[in-house]
Amino acid sequence: MTETTTISVAGDRPYDITVGRGILSGLGAVLPPAARKILVVHPPTLAQQAESLRASLGGDREVLLAEIPDAEQGKRIEVAAFCWQVMGQADFTRTDAVVGFGGGAVTDLAGFVAATWLRGVELVQVPTTVLGMVDAAVGGKTGVNTAEGKNLVGAFWPPRAVVCDLDLLDTLSPNERVAGFAEVVKAGFIWYPEILDIIEADPEAAVDPVTPAFRRCIELAIEMKARVVGEDLREAGLREVLNYGHTLGHAIEHSERYRWRHGAAISVGMVFAAELSRLAGRLSDDVVQRHRDIFTMLGLPTEYRAGAWPQLLAAMQRDKKSRGGMLRFIVLDDVARPTVLQAPDESLLFAAYQEVGR
Ligand code: GLY
Repeated sequence: MTETTTISVAGDRPYDITVGRGILSGLGAVLPPAARKILVVHPPTLAQQAESLRASLGGDREVLLAEIPDAEQGKRIEVAAFCWQVMGQADFTRTDAVVGFGGGAVTDLAGFVAATWLRGVELVQVPTTVLGMVDAAVGGKTGVNTAEGKNLVGAFWPPRAVVCDLDLLDTLSPNERVAGFAEVVKAGFIWYPEILDIIEADPEAAVDPVTPAFRRCIELAIEMKARVVGEDLREAGLREVLNYGHTLGHAIEHSERYRWRHGAAISVGMVFAAELSRLAGRLSDDVVQRHRDIFTMLGLPTEYRAGAWPQLLAAMQRDKKSRGGMLRFIVLDDVARPTVLQAPDESLLFAAYQEVGR
């Protein structure tokens, strides 16, 4: 086991995120001592590892496994109902606990199940993807999708602990790892420019889980998220900065019927937000170019179909992040200086899109 880093999240229910290698074996120590039953929610691809977890957590605890469909297919109310059924049949009590073991969709669903069973039981998140570690599993947003849209039903339910074992990333496909890295780049642009410097120095090393550069980037991104959600769990203010690149990004995901990875969509979204910042007279040409250079170095997209603008604009207007009927964008005044641009003129949005539309 290498050295472990602990990042604390403040708030009414503070908790620690641990980052390291070989730390999954210590999961038992962060579960609530009173829990006699543990439900491990996992996707089919992690069935074998979930079995090993069951064996290592066993002893005087009963470990139940709930295998759910991977990705967005798992974020459905029917899947939550399946987990509730497993818990009900096992007489799962209020002092028992749920473990979310998987990517962002799995930890979102596991969190929702924990938030709702008996009005809330303890939750430990064990993200197994880059996206899960730096974003989904940290911050207590849990939920399911409905036919009308993504994440429309859910609860803020902070976990008791988050365990980020980097060993779990070694078998991820390079595409998945790089797509997850888009959220790390976001953390660089809105909060910790050191991330951008590390990527520019050696992009290959930055996305390779065995390097110190990768670990530093992941830890900085988690630290950023921990600080933001520690201050503003319910997105009453500061947390909105996490939406940098997401307003257009969500519209692209919708337009692609979720076949694009989230990271790819928000990469284009961040270039768009940077262009919008520039056209609003806030951001220099150099920082906008820095966006394009970094995403290109990592093999992430910076452009989208020019003809898609009307449908993207319509999707953005429907997005729950456009509050009170007004579109809101996180823009930059500089690197690490995010701010809100409310209700920009449609002509400005169109002009910014001209810069990413091809
Ligand atoms: N993924 C954005 C947030 O947690 O608020």
